[in-house]
Amino acid sequence: MTSKKILVTGGAGYIGAHTVVELYTNGYSPVVIDNFSKSDRTLLEGIEKITGIPVVFYEGDCADKEFLKRVFKKEGKFDGVMHFAAYKSVGESVEQPIMYYRNNLDSLLTLLEVMKEQRVNNLIFSSSCTVYGEPDTIPVDEQAPFKKAESPYGATKQMCEQILEDVVKADQNLNVISLRYFNPIGAHPSAMLGELPIDKPNNLVPYITQTAAGIREKLVIFGDDYDTSDGTCIRDFIHIVDLAAAHVKAIDKLSEAGENKGYQYYNLGTGRGVSVLQLVKEFIEVAGIKLNYEMGPRRAGDVVKTYANPTKAKNDLNWSAQYTAKDALRDAWAWEKKISTSRK
Ligand code: UFG
Repeated sequence: MTSKKILVTGGAGYIGAHTVVELYTNGYSPVVIDNFSKSDRTLLEGIEKITGIPVVFYEGDCADKEFLKRVFKKEGKFDGVMHFAAYKSVGESVEQPIMYYRNNLDSLLTLLEVMKEQRVNNLIFSSSCTVYGEPDTIPVDEQAPFKKAESPYGATKQMCEQILEDVVKADQNLNVISLRYFNPIGAHPSAMLGELPIDKPNNLVPYITQTAAGIREKLVIFGDDYDTSDGTCIRDFIHIVDLAAAHVKAIDKLSEAGENKGYQYYNLGTGRGVSVLQLVKEFIEVAGIKLNYEMGPRRAGDVVKTYANPTKAKNDLNWSAQYTAKDALRDAWAWEKKISTSRK
């Protein structure tokens, strides 16, 4: 039996690349497209080192319909698509909203048009817990309403989910699963693959590891006067390999024979809330080094407390997180040491 062929948009990015590894190891044949606007070829090399398989890859933009059509024509029929390609920086989206709406909406709409033309019916979409805004109750489950988005980035994720729901309603053949990520951190345990911000990191863990590696002078913790146990924000930090594995479970589910699956959505988190300060302390313990950090003012737009109720994904996808935050920090640190040494 030939293995199922999956188009992976944004497959050279942090989450996409880890998912490509999981697809290969589970017998799928991924085909990657990426325009390298926020990534570089290093992660594709990492995939090849881990799997020993040359990545099938096309450079281009997912919002370019002619490019997408060429890929579909060259590769023949795909069994499914995973759509990671999108801009993801909350702060940048506040400064450049047009760029965010244009890119994140256009790429999804173009992809949906080409999928329809080519009769490809299974799609996994990268959504985010940001769709919930500041939730009224935590842990947050999938029934929680979408609050007003805190940023244009968050609004694009809400809009994309709305588009998908409407398109699925109108097309009985289309099956879509949106995966609402909490905070993915860490790296592949082999240290061959990890997060590689092309500019100064916005996210907590790459900032921690770059500070520990001497690339950044100090970590500033944004706010220690919140209404939480230690005053810092609370998040659900999930190991990137766990997150990637959930995508394989999701595409397995869509690939099952049977009736139309419609539109579904799942939280991907551990179910455990960890404060920013707690994570910093866990990093210091795991890495066994000193870290230069200090408390600073709050960052605009931050949700105070959020963590997932991941029960729905466990029941329907037979998926749950296996790694701890400490595992993720250990792996992130091993990756940082490797990548920062190789770049010196
Ligand atoms: N933080 C710091 N110092 C830093 C960086 C972050 O204290 O240098 C804090 C933030 O204020 C926040 C926590 O660490 O309290 C996590 O911040 P991240 O930027 O790592 O992650 P966010 O929770 O802001 O955002 C992430 C993803 C988004 C996604 C969002 C959903 O980056 O793409 O989760 O909540 F939409």
